Amino acid sequence: MERRWWMTFMITTCLFLGSTGRGLKIKHKADSPVYNHTLTTILVEYASAVYISDSTDLFTWTCSRCDGLTKGFEVIELIVDVQNCLQAFVGVADDLDAIVIAFRGTQETSIQNWIEDLFWKQLDFDYPGCTDGKVHHGFFNAYNNTILRSGILDGVTRAREAYGNLKIIVTGHSMGGAMAAFCGLDLALIYGSKNVQITTFGQPRIGNAAFASYYSQVVPNTFRVTHAHDLVPHLPPYYQHFPQKTYHHFPREVWLYDIGLGFLGYPVEKICDGSGEDPECSRSVSGNSISDHLTYFGADMGCDTPSKCKIVMTPNLASYGEVDDYGNFALYRVPSKFIRKMKK
Ligand SMILES: *[C@@H]1O[C@H](CO)[C@@H](O)[C@H](O)[C@H]1NC(C)=O
Ligand SMILES: *[C@@H]1O[C@H](CO)[C@@H](O)[C@H](O)[C@H]1NC(C)=O
Repeated sequence: MERRWWMTFMITTCLFLGSTGRGLKIKHKADSPVYNHTLTTILVEYASAVYISDSTDLFTWTCSRCDGLTKGFEVIELIVDVQNCLQAFVGVADDLDAIVIAFRGTQETSIQNWIEDLFWKQLDFDYPGCTDGKVHHGFFNAYNNTILRSGILDGVTRAREAYGNLKIIVTGHSMGGAMAAFCGLDLALIYGSKNVQITTFGQPRIGNAAFASYYSQVVPNTFRVTHAHDLVPHLPPYYQHFPQKTYHHFPREVWLYDIGLGFLGYPVEKICDGSGEDPECSRSVSGNSISDHLTYFGADMGCDTPSKCKIVMTPNLASYGEVDDYGNFALYRVPSKFIRKMKK
């Protein structure tokens, strides 16, 4: 098992960036969130599975990626926005005692095009409730102003009605990570900061420094995993000389990379500083790899089928939900409280 070889380097430096003029002030408290490697290797499998295009396999949790560390997961809501090619699910993970929400990244056949677009993305939207906080409106809208938001809030409400106040974990890869971040922020404002945690993989920047600072106060339990030379976390670009105008990552990055060469090499997980833009983490290398973007902890982080925005829904699923005029649909079911109790 390749996973066993991952080593964790805990860097426990306490950083005060207030005086460096980078615009992000983070206070480190004794109870600041601790990175959990085991949990992260489970979450990456959820972020991988949400790319599966066959809705039946996903809804019933029988897909090829719905095995391994996520076995026994119960999907209670699957939301598919056919119009915008977006997909997310809400479910309950018994073993984690948590509601898990995962967002799919871009389904473009040509990931290259999507990446090229990202070079030109501007901060173009004032995030509501955050003074001077600007975000990328495309990523924000993909979560907030599509059927995803209402579907997810509905799923979380039903899960908590059935199972009580479970913690909520939100994950996603690539653009799915960007949506996961906006969703986690939304849920933390509704359910409280202590009840929500976020882990994203290969996520692009989504807002400016003022937004990153606000974000890390509302959702402190956030880990943003990056991998070696993955290109996407470098985008949209960070302009060091324009701190007020540039995109700025929120903390806390965890950078995966290899030390050494060939069979002497071994993978490392580096816990980065609280700035969001640790120069010793992924920013210390050039972002020039798409293949590093498409694998995290050995899991495939892309579509299972090569066709563009393929969504498969079979008629037998129709009883679980409704399709709107645009072909968008949400499938949902009553959480199987009874089954869960019997297992315990
Ligand atoms: C890390 O997460 C795993 C899986 O949820 C859990 O079993 C373990 O107790 C956690 N470790 C710590 C130190 O919290
Ligand atoms: C986010 O969505 C909610 C309802 O779904 C809406 O009321 C609100 O105006 C949206 N926010 C923005 C800034 O678009």
